[in-house]
Amino acid sequence: MTTKPATAPSTAASTAQQDWAAIRSRFPVLERKTYLNSCAYGALATDVITALQNYINDRLAKGTDWNYWVARNDGARLAVAAFLGAHTDEVAVTSSASAGINSIASALSFDQPRNKVVISEFEFPTNAQIWYAQELRGARVVRVPEENGYIPIENFEAAIDEETLIVAVTQVCFRNGARLDIPAIVEVARSKGALVLVDGYQGLGTFNFDVRKAGPDFVVGGMVKYLLGTAGIGFLYVRKALIESLVPTVTGWFAQADIFAMDTTRYDPSPTARRFEMGTPPVVNCYAAEAGLKVLAEVGLPAIEERIAELTAAIIEEAKSAGYSLAVPEDPARHGALITLRTHDENALVSCLEGKNIVTSCRFGNLRVSPHFYNDHGDVETLFRALRQKRHLLV
Ligand SMILES: Cc1ncc(COP(=O)(O)O)c(C=O)c1O
Repeated sequence: MTTKPATAPSTAASTAQQDWAAIRSRFPVLERKTYLNSCAYGALATDVITALQNYINDRLAKGTDWNYWVARNDGARLAVAAFLGAHTDEVAVTSSASAGINSIASALSFDQPRNKVVISEFEFPTNAQIWYAQELRGARVVRVPEENGYIPIENFEAAIDEETLIVAVTQVCFRNGARLDIPAIVEVARSKGALVLVDGYQGLGTFNFDVRKAGPDFVVGGMVKYLLGTAGIGFLYVRKALIESLVPTVTGWFAQADIFAMDTTRYDPSPTARRFEMGTPPVVNCYAAEAGLKVLAEVGLPAIEERIAELTAAIIEEAKSAGYSLAVPEDPARHGALITLRTHDENALVSCLEGKNIVTSCRFGNLRVSPHFYNDHGDVETLFRALRQKRHLLV
């Protein structure tokens, strides 16, 4: 097991200095499609394709090598830790965001009076459903309401109190793209003695986010979207000071202090965040995750954030000048990479765009347009040219 402190990702070059055309050429799907759906899947980089091929090559070359598999799992852990600004001991490599949330939930006791779980109306289903499942164990779930497509901090202040055990919230809403003020939510929760879990799946990889500065106790995410990896792998960050006080009751052999002790007489959880893992790791996905995070580190989060801000501003501007109705807040501090437009028929619009080789997605009546750093202004123009022809489908 690795115990190395993670180093910060390289902050390569600013947007102006980047060779965006060269970066774009590393994503082959962009030669065939106008790809604006990173909120669902990130585009596959040649680096990630090579990493997946390496998995096959290693299997063929080595036959069996469990220690090498553990090393690949630790490679993904190290890459996640560097990306988050965390220590490797604070990161569990999981098979999904859900697995991380479940592991934390299993380690909590919902004893009265502190048995309240505060979630929001912006949650992805999994982060609501898992906490509702804890009502079977004594939890009380409270949902913070949205107001006109956003959730102001006052709504969290009204919900979080001395009975709150944990506040479990999304960073960016998967439905409309609204971005919550996580540091402000952490401050309110701390003042009431509550823990904070952030579901960073729709935000991480699109703007700078340092776990230590933002201050949550737990962060979950996954690799298939803006982190450029693949499905079937996620991660859980747990603030170091909390790790040994949390004993998950959902567990497995990869969560033990010594994975290969093979002890069938007791439960001996790892002293690190590996205690929140379970069985055989998603090894093939670890290869992809490490490669995807390496591309992000190479380009650098500051340049990625700037690039996405330019593209999302262009999308909002185009939408406004065409008179379309935005479902996402316009304020750049209140949205992420996901920009949403209200539609009369979301599925019809997505399939019309698909017919023109433009990849988008939809949820709850909204067209979801989600650029990443590999997109360019030409992609935005292509999208709006197509949308003008389907004006009747947009609100
Ligand atoms: C905000 C958010 N959380 C979680 C998930 C998925 O979680 P899991 O890895 O458990 O499937 C998604 C996926 O689409 C998401 O958008």
